[in-house]
Amino acid sequence: MAKDKYEVLICDDDETVRHLLREMLENEGYDCIEAANAQETLVAFETALADVVLLDIKLPGESGLDLIPHLIRRYSDTLIIVVTAINELDVAIQCIRKGAYDYITKPVNTDEVISCTKRAIETRGLQLKIREYQRHLEERVEEQAEEIRGSFLGAMSALSFALEAKDNYTAGHSRRVADVAVAIGKKLGLSQDELDDLRWGSLLHDFAKIAVDELIIHKNGKLTPEEYEHVMTHPIVGACLAASLVRNKRIIEIIEHHHAHYNGSGLRQTRNGDDIPLLARIVAVADAYDAMTSNRPYRSALSRGEALAVVRNEVGRQFDPRIANIFLGMSEEDIIQKREKILIADDEESIRLLVRSIMGNDYVVIEAADGQEAVESANKEKPILILMDILMPKKDGLQACYEIKSNSATKEIPVVILTGIDKELNRRLSHELGAAGYITKPFTAQDLINAVRKFAQN
Ligand SMILES: [Fe+2]
Repeated sequence: MAKDKYEVLICDDDETVRHLLREMLENEGYDCIEAANAQETLVAFETALADVVLLDIKLPGESGLDLIPHLIRRYSDTLIIVVTAINELDVAIQCIRKGAYDYITKPVNTDEVISCTKRAIETRGLQLKIREYQRHLEERVEEQAEEIRGSFLGAMSALSFALEAKDNYTAGHSRRVADVAVAIGKKLGLSQDELDDLRWGSLLHDFAKIAVDELIIHKNGKLTPEEYEHVMTHPIVGACLAASLVRNKRIIEIIEHHHAHYNGSGLRQTRNGDDIPLLARIVAVADAYDAMTSNRPYRSALSRGEALAVVRNEVGRQFDPRIANIFLGMSEEDIIQKREKILIADDEESIRLLVRSIMGNDYVVIEAADGQEAVESANKEKPILILMDILMPKKDGLQACYEIKSNSATKEIPVVILTGIDKELNRRLSHELGAAGYITKPFTAQDLINAVRKFAQN
């Protein structure tokens, strides 16, 4: 950041010269520190970094010429002005070659000292501004990269959520796998970055099933070996698809290795034991547990106890013993994440499905198809946020919003109007009725996510 006050260090063994320079520079508003030799200069730098050093060449002990590389190496931002006698001009040139900013000659002349110091300070101020600008730019680039990554991964997981939701047998599978995997990851003491990747990898682990023959996926019976081989192409297809879009090794590894068996007995697996990436070994346990405890077209769900017995039996075979044992030691409460509810009130089914797909991994999305249902559902379910259409049968959204805001049991729930009507009057009206926000259709997934994040009460 550019500074209000700049500091000048005066290094000269002659006290009279030091005081003279100090007086000149303090009159110009600079803070000054004095040092009588190289050693004192370095000690002064330990406590405060001077912006400019006025450095005498002839010093007792280490000379100014020797001190320059030392200062530049450790304090590259400081500008050095060499103060030298006229007959030492060749030395001054050597100093410039070693990285000094400029030189002035003795006996010192007030105008020369001030103008040279001023130039150095301006250069220093400019350097600070450029650095500040670069830092700001880097932060923005990082923020934008994070935003792009978040919206891309969000869109992919919304897609896999929507695909799973089509099928009663797999609905919510990836989200539950993510819950279990993250719960295990926390017990393992993973970092927040690793937990984030674990969650995304879990949400996306099966997304390449889009490419798998639907008749086989939904087959009402056990798969033949050929069919099983076909289904098991999804990890490698998924990893290849994801690699061209996501530059995150851990997420890609989860997709690629989530079916690998710890003892190497899985189909076409390329890594065994601890060579299988840790996050993929975690997802393997979570994925298998959720598959076992879900109904399938050809079998009923196993009970929790039965599924745990299978996991126990596969410790060291299909599953990493350390991860499986952590999972076996966890209670049901440990692995089920409490999800807050949000309500979408819209008579258009496509909008309800869209909201469910985009937000369903993070919230329990409850639905109402008209304004009356919205008011009743708000009262009964107590969601943390309501997304409300305006034009709806039975009761319009503005009336429903008014009733929700007038009821002491529901008045604190934020209502965001989600409408195709883009009129200033409706915006004003909804605001006066107590709505927290107003989104017009068509909206992007990111608009919705941003609004929910902004207004949802936790
Ligand atoms: Fe899978």
